[in-house]
Amino acid sequence: MELDEALRGRRSIRNYKGEAVPMDMVQQVLEAGTLAPSAHNGQQWRFSVLTGKAKKRVTDVFRTDLSALSKKGGSIGSGFESCRIMEQAPVVIIVWNAGRAGFETHIHSVAAAIENMLLKAYALGLGTLWIGDVFDASEGLIQYFGKHWELTAAIALGWPAENPNPRPRKSVSEVAEFLD
Ligand SMILES: Cc1cc2nc3c(=O)[nH]c(=O)nc-3n(C[C@H](O)[C@H](O)[C@H](O)COP(=O)(O)O)c2cc1C
Repeated sequence: MELDEALRGRRSIRNYKGEAVPMDMVQQVLEAGTLAPSAHNGQQWRFSVLTGKAKKRVTDVFRTDLSALSKKGGSIGSGFESCRIMEQAPVVIIVWNAGRAGFETHIHSVAAAIENMLLKAYALGLGTLWIGDVFDASEGLIQYFGKHWELTAAIALGWPAENPNPRPRKSVSEVAEFLD
């Protein structure tokens, strides 16, 4: 697929078909992540790939935490909807930052890897959603995995069951200045 086609055609997908994603495709998506540039070539990204029962256990933890937070009167935003999407998508990739605390650039490396993965998935005909809502209830997830890394995002991955219209973008002239 042409790069421009991927950049323009990718959408956030919030509805997935039930069919499984072949593991070799998941591998290709992960490999695209590992090709991203990274601060000091530190490759700070780490991935936990969840399917089946492992995914259910994690979404159960997320849902339980969201409910507890909501009972306490905490602001949930789109947390429950993101949890529903994670439950529906056949694959969820939890993305971690294994970089050193206090090094702001390390999280940027991880974000670059995520974008590579979204584009590769799209080129394979798969849909994705970058989910930051996992921060709403991150404590339970971090405890569940027992990692010493920073939780960065979740990615829902699967066969798209929708074809959403592009969301509006600011034009280049709105976001860029040209200085000479
Ligand atoms: C850092 C980040 C966090 C995001 N978190 C969520 C989320 O938790 N739930 C959700 O539905 N979409 C989430 N999104 C997707 C955005 O809503 C989406 O990218 C944006 O609306 C533009 O739409 P598009 O991806 O279809 O171009 C996130 C995107 C980014 C980059």
